[in-house]
Amino acid sequence: MTRSQAADVLAALHNRNSHPRLVTPAPTDSDLEAILTAGLRAPDHGRLRPWQFLIIEGEARKRLGQIFEQALLLTNPEAGEAERTKALRAPLRAPLIIAGLLKPTAHPKIPRQEQVAAVACALHGMLLAAEALGFAGMWRTGGYARDPWVLRELDAAPEDEVIGFLYLGTAEGSAKPIDRPALGDYVRRFNPA
Ligand SMILES: Cc1cc2nc3c(=O)[nH]c(=O)nc-3n(C[C@H](O)[C@H](O)[C@H](O)COP(=O)(O)O)c2cc1C
Repeated sequence: MTRSQAADVLAALHNRNSHPRLVTPAPTDSDLEAILTAGLRAPDHGRLRPWQFLIIEGEARKRLGQIFEQALLLTNPEAGEAERTKALRAPLRAPLIIAGLLKPTAHPKIPRQEQVAAVACALHGMLLAAEALGFAGMWRTGGYARDPWVLRELDAAPEDEVIGFLYLGTAEGSAKPIDRPALGDYVRRFNPA
């Protein structure tokens, strides 16, 4: 990699920013292939590939909203109209969603926690790739990510988990300010005596 390519990569990493308001155009099929391929290069202990990625777009987003509403009513049968509408509309906040599922493998040396980390790395790679292609995104979870009804309706196993719903599209409106905490607040050198 040349210095100028490295500068581009660093600029992309330093300036990434989540966008809650996402509209069309969504990534095309070839964009999506590039985004998914970036994610699948995530570090992954033992190359267990403890993941599955569901592409949810178009009418399938409406179905996901119905699943969220059903999950809400199973948890809280008294849920009011506002909450139900919020659940129904949640997946319509972006033209395309990638649901990153953890499909854990029992392994003597690689605990579930490390497999969660691999899926999270994959989703982050996809978010960065989408931004590099000029799109915007937001990683969301909420209670539905671990809800047994939602997992069942996504054809996932009870031990699976949605590590992230990656909402992707084109940013609408201006970006929020980038949060740049001081490195010293979170980093220290280990200096053994
Ligand atoms: C595992 C995970 C779950 C998240 N779930 C939500 C969520 O459900 N709702 C939300 O508003 N933000 C959620 N976020 C945070 C946003 O994706 C985003 O990072 C945050 O708004 C800060 O913006 P920034 O990424 O531009 O710094 C989640 C982030 C991660 C890593």
